[in-house]
Amino acid sequence: MGAHSLKGRDVLSMADFSREEIDIILQTALELKRGISRGEFQDHILRGKAAAMVFETPSSRTRMSFWRAMQQLGGAAEDLSGGKVWSDSGVESWGDTCRVMDRYFDILIARLLAQSTLVEAANLLTIPVFNASTDYEHPFQALADFETVLEKKGRFDNVKYVLTWAYHEYNPPMGLVVSSMYLASRLPNFQFVLACPEEYTPPQDIIDRTMGYAAENGASIEIVHDLKKAAKDADFINAYCYVMPDVFRAGSPENNWQAPTPHNKEPERFKHWRVDDDVMKLGKPGAKFMHCMPAAVGHEVTADVIYGPNSLIQDEAENRLHAQKAVLALTLGA
Ligand code: CP
Repeated sequence: MGAHSLKGRDVLSMADFSREEIDIILQTALELKRGISRGEFQDHILRGKAAAMVFETPSSRTRMSFWRAMQQLGGAAEDLSGGKVWSDSGVESWGDTCRVMDRYFDILIARLLAQSTLVEAANLLTIPVFNASTDYEHPFQALADFETVLEKKGRFDNVKYVLTWAYHEYNPPMGLVVSSMYLASRLPNFQFVLACPEEYTPPQDIIDRTMGYAAENGASIEIVHDLKKAAKDADFINAYCYVMPDVFRAGSPENNWQAPTPHNKEPERFKHWRVDDDVMKLGKPGAKFMHCMPAAVGHEVTADVIYGPNSLIQDEAENRLHAQKAVLALTLGA
């Protein structure tokens, strides 16, 4: 499995990972994927290890892929979400629940509304803590997306990747954007473009940090407020609706993720932020469409594009499994 610099590490932010570490993770993910396709058993890697999983929001892919990742590696995963632990109902604090999990489990995998709650857990636990998406980051989705790019192109050099804001009345957090920016900025000669309405420009501290990493690593990072301009000559166009961290939590599951965001106040002004055939044709011939899902088909993207021959949505979803197995193996494996 190679280098062990990741042993025992938390995964809170993609900013914490060097170019070399990202390379090790992505190569390991592809190696594990090839192994599974050859019929290899990998259940010696985490035999006897157990993951606690806590989800404060719904999840299909993250929940299923982490469970399956632990299972394929020979470990176990217990989903503690949905009122199973006392901290959910306020009978004990999140900190007290965390300290107890530390004694039973080998890792905590948590999807939390707030990055600060995740950091609180990481400060209390001696076992690794993995970010399964918060208001600020979604590192494993970014890893799976970039694994998919590497798998399809065989390289990052001179690849143009557009991550575009897209219209959707619901309000997921911007985590994928932040994690993708930090990851892309470590890839030499990679061309990353964030396309978004001005209102959805990431906070300046995130831009500054990304630009700093890009300057160190020779990546190109651009923010463009015009989807058609951004799509020109793209190899990949990835659509994602998001809101800023400060408004994300206002859109709670109870009120159906509706937060008072610009695109919900004035939908007509934002509905043209949609990936259709015309946008895809602006990319390079055979340009690929990506979406982390769940997708609002007909709003963020047309059905022709998302279910068409150049869509990679199922590969991305599958690669969640392989990327997560890679990081689990590198952090917890012998
Ligand atoms: N892409 C993603 O994280 O999907 P889920 O919300 O279904 O886990």
